[in-house]
Amino acid sequence: MTGYGAVPASVGEPAEMWRFGTRGKGLRDSVIRALTKQLAGRTGLVSFAGGMPSPLTFPDAAVASAFEAVMRQDSKAALQYGPSDGYPPLRQWIAESLSSASVSIGADQVIVTSGSQQGLDLLGKVMLDATDTVAVETPTYLGALQSLGLYATGFLSAPTDGLGIVPAAFDALLSRASGAGRQCKLLYAIPTFQNPTGRTMPLSRRTELVTLCARRRIPIVEDNPYGELDHEGRRHVPLLELGEGNVAYLGSFSKVLSPGLRIGYVVAPRPLARKLELAKQASDLHTCSLTQRLVFEIVRDGFLAHHLESCRALYGANAKAMTAALARHLHGLAEWAEPSGGMFLWLTLQRGLDATALLERALAANVAYVPGAPFYADSPDHRTLRLCYSTAQRDSIETGIAALGRVLKESTDAIHHSSTPGRLA
Ligand SMILES: Cc1ncc(COP(=O)(O)O)c(C=O)c1O
Repeated sequence: MTGYGAVPASVGEPAEMWRFGTRGKGLRDSVIRALTKQLAGRTGLVSFAGGMPSPLTFPDAAVASAFEAVMRQDSKAALQYGPSDGYPPLRQWIAESLSSASVSIGADQVIVTSGSQQGLDLLGKVMLDATDTVAVETPTYLGALQSLGLYATGFLSAPTDGLGIVPAAFDALLSRASGAGRQCKLLYAIPTFQNPTGRTMPLSRRTELVTLCARRRIPIVEDNPYGELDHEGRRHVPLLELGEGNVAYLGSFSKVLSPGLRIGYVVAPRPLARKLELAKQASDLHTCSLTQRLVFEIVRDGFLAHHLESCRALYGANAKAMTAALARHLHGLAEWAEPSGGMFLWLTLQRGLDATALLERALAANVAYVPGAPFYADSPDHRTLRLCYSTAQRDSIETGIAALGRVLKESTDAIHHSSTPGRLA
């Protein structure tokens, strides 16, 4: 007999037969995805939780005409299997757009991936052993902790301030780690409009960091999905340009065109690019032939320059609306830095307040955020939380931040009433 229900008892129940490997046992739900699922369809709620680009920025018309053009000119190839490293014209376009006076990128260094998230996964697969240690910013992108954490078990939390990694403190941490027998295998960093903090490293820090990593022979994985979203359109020199050969670069069209198309890429030194191509082949053969062509058709003639202007204007205005609302409703209850690009604002609550513990109350007051704790590789700061301002409507920013202010005010008052003086810690 076949079918799970008919498996004889002596063979064991199916659940027992499926014994997870170490990696499977280690898999955990992402707090953000779990929260997004929980909040889906809830009416009246203002959510600053998800980290999604605004649908207002999606280039519907450009996608429609690109689809029409691809189907007219190249339908058979668009619907066929393709090369594992990606659609050659798109790879060439990416290489040219990243090349500058200080760095020359070849198309053979570019691997197109199903979102930059897959690039992270492939890098983890190719580079990391279970006993390896990866350095990350404090805090860092949760998806990187999930992805790299599947391959390496140890993280080193690089000390940071409002401008990103503090090179001297990171250097000292590396010395302590190596004294304790832990060598750092690579550094994962988001130097521009970081997720979750929104902060950006100034050029001098970037140079110092790249120099330090070269001296210590630590390769850098630079993740840069938000780099083009400076609200004023300023350019931030990627680490890729400063530390050629020592930096693998993750890029994405998710935040500048559409995340649903799932087109990202890795730029890597050639030997690493070849390994990534093989890992990609083993993983999913190649990224969708059709969406690669759609993206190329859209970007090939300079579409992004104009399109990015409207994305930047929208996000800049939303960020201003949110910081103004924060100043009105959270004064004295939290601290934050005004973001100059990207999609996120990072709050540190007044002492005594715990962002994870307060989330239920915030949801009851119809406002959602992501607590900061899951973004830390270790020793989380429970007073932190992330607000995403990209998708919110201007008037709901005011409503949501006012509601958050009331929750924080009530909680602060409750602590003051219930505690003896000096109890706030
Ligand atoms: C820092 C960072 N890296 C990578 C990703 C993954 O993006 P995608 O796979 O859509 O390119 C995200 C998504 O939010 C992100 O914030």
